[in-house]
Amino acid sequence: MTAKLRVAVFPVAGLGTRFLPATKAMPKEMLTVVDRPVIQYAVDEAKQAGIEHFVFVTGRNKSVIEDHFDRQFELEHTLEQRGKTEALQLLQADLPQPGKTSFTRQQEPLGLGHAVWCARELVGDEPFALLLPDMIFKSEQGVLAQMIAAYEQHGGNVLAVEEVAPEDVSSYGVVGRGEGPDEGFEITQMVEKPKQADAPSNLIISGRYILQPEVFELLENQAKGAGNEIQITDAMQGLLGKQRFTGVKYKGTAFDCGSKVGFLSANVAFALERQDIAVEFLHELNQIIRAAKR
Ligand code: UTP
Repeated sequence: MTAKLRVAVFPVAGLGTRFLPATKAMPKEMLTVVDRPVIQYAVDEAKQAGIEHFVFVTGRNKSVIEDHFDRQFELEHTLEQRGKTEALQLLQADLPQPGKTSFTRQQEPLGLGHAVWCARELVGDEPFALLLPDMIFKSEQGVLAQMIAAYEQHGGNVLAVEEVAPEDVSSYGVVGRGEGPDEGFEITQMVEKPKQADAPSNLIISGRYILQPEVFELLENQAKGAGNEIQITDAMQGLLGKQRFTGVKYKGTAFDCGSKVGFLSANVAFALERQDIAVEFLHELNQIIRAAKR
């Protein structure tokens, strides 16, 4: 029997330098895709997968994320007075249950691995999901829910992976593929940002993890790796051979909202799915494209 996955960690302490100046005073996780902040998509995915407790590793300028997951009495009161019940219901539906969120700070952005380590006391001695909110997905079943199916079968650690062009592997964490189907295969190797010639495959880790708590022990003494940052992939590499790592080639489309093109594409893709604006937006979009071609 595998231990139930209750807790999810959201590292949101990065500097977001690729989005300056937008991210000078505002966290990149609060940039909006249509009308929801990017972080909300990852939280929704975790909620749908049955996660009960949400741990945020924040940094300076990030208190607005905490406010986003809190009540806004003044706003709620004004909406109520103006009879805007639909907007009010929308706010209430997104609100986490009292006591089900925790916030800690990564005082210096020393890397993703370090951000995860900062959550160790809040997670404790149990498996946890790690969701990088930059990555959002359009999929029939949520990506974390797809991974939980593999976790229930294999236990241990589970990573969501996707295929990229071989020349792009050097920007990502890359895994080696062993036995098993797309829904759950054994991972034989992991390497962060390898040169194309050294990459074990073109399967990259795409922002969703289920990890066992032993990873915190490795992160405790983890030296800096690629990009002079403490890398989660290096810590996982240290556990490989001692614990099972399963890869799930998820069904769905990823948008990397940490990059400008990914973020803009996400806005287009999600807007075109929205009943309230899709027709009008498509019309505008076609006009913009036509004008750009001239
Ligand atoms: P990224 O490397 O994509 O985020 O980290 P970044 O450093 O903020 O972005 P750029 O490259 O400067 O534009 C992936 C995730 O890990 C978090 C980020 O907030 C993001 O959600 N992160 C990264 C931390 O929480 N702490 C860190 O030290 C680094």
